[in-house]
Amino acid sequence: MIEKIQSLQNEIKKIEIQNSEELESFRLQYLSRKGIINQLFEEFKQLPGLEKKEIGKPLNVLKQELETIFNQNKEKLEGSGESEELTKIDQSLPVSKNSPASIHPLKAVENKLIDIFYSLGFDFSDGPEIEDDHHNFSALNFEEDHPARDMQDTFFVGDYVLRTHTSSVQIREMENKKPPFRLIMPGRVYRNEAVSSRSNCFFHQIEGLYVDKGVTFADLKQTLYYFVQQFFGEGTEVRFRASYFPFTEPSAEMDIWIGTETEDTKRLSKGTGWLEVLGCGMVHPNVLKSCNVDPDVYTGYAFGIGMDRITMLKYGINDIRTLFQNDVRMLQQFQGL
Ligand code: PHE
Repeated sequence: MIEKIQSLQNEIKKIEIQNSEELESFRLQYLSRKGIINQLFEEFKQLPGLEKKEIGKPLNVLKQELETIFNQNKEKLEGSGESEELTKIDQSLPVSKNSPASIHPLKAVENKLIDIFYSLGFDFSDGPEIEDDHHNFSALNFEEDHPARDMQDTFFVGDYVLRTHTSSVQIREMENKKPPFRLIMPGRVYRNEAVSSRSNCFFHQIEGLYVDKGVTFADLKQTLYYFVQQFFGEGTEVRFRASYFPFTEPSAEMDIWIGTETEDTKRLSKGTGWLEVLGCGMVHPNVLKSCNVDPDVYTGYAFGIGMDRITMLKYGINDIRTLFQNDVRMLQQFQGL
């Protein structure tokens, strides 16, 4: 028996383990229940006492050596990311030109808008999509019985709501920090609307807020003109219409001229040639007060741009729902954005 042990000692010195399959067959051969070591221990049990003394030590040493070989190789394979499969991949190869990955057109528009407003000195912020009544409505000067709180517009989640606009993020920022504020805040918003090619029960806005000493409506208009020229191109025509929002006074909506030449522009503008792209106005003094900003010292403007529509216009998408179906055939058309 001692010879057997010695020849095994020699044998295992030559063992080289390259991958997980070899490791497993090593384990099966030597260390498993039916493996060589267990067989040797079975034989060992039958030996007379004197021989046991002689054989016990070298047999245990052999067992320990085999276990060490197994454990060291296991660690090595795990550490190197293991497996044949991975080492077969040539990681220096260039990425295939047919890679299906692409930036979603909405994200591309968001990135572009962020770039434009960064160049004007705005910072980025965002907030939760599940909001409380305070941030989505009350602090924004909505009366208790304002129709926007109605079941028909708002999705309720217990005592909370799915935010109906990104204006809630204005409140979260102003409550927690000191003016001046100059922020853009993109995100998803939800309204309980009938789903069609033009409207969806969730969509995307980018909120803008600028609060400081001496901010005027002229600053607001100039900022929005700049945004339109940068985003839609030099010379794009704009019009403001007086409007109403509880959290701004005065309030306006801004349209851009897209014409009626194509089927897409006709449908998007409902035949008028004008496309509404945002709501805006001067932050209502009650909103500033609810955030502990003194309206006698500070004024500000806010705007909320609808991102889905301008994405559809920019990329000639005629059904808002296609933005959210994740159809690879559609998404692949936007490679390289
Ligand atoms: N929150 C308004 C909306 O969802 C848009 C808006 C933002 C209006 C900021 C004025 C100021 O329609």
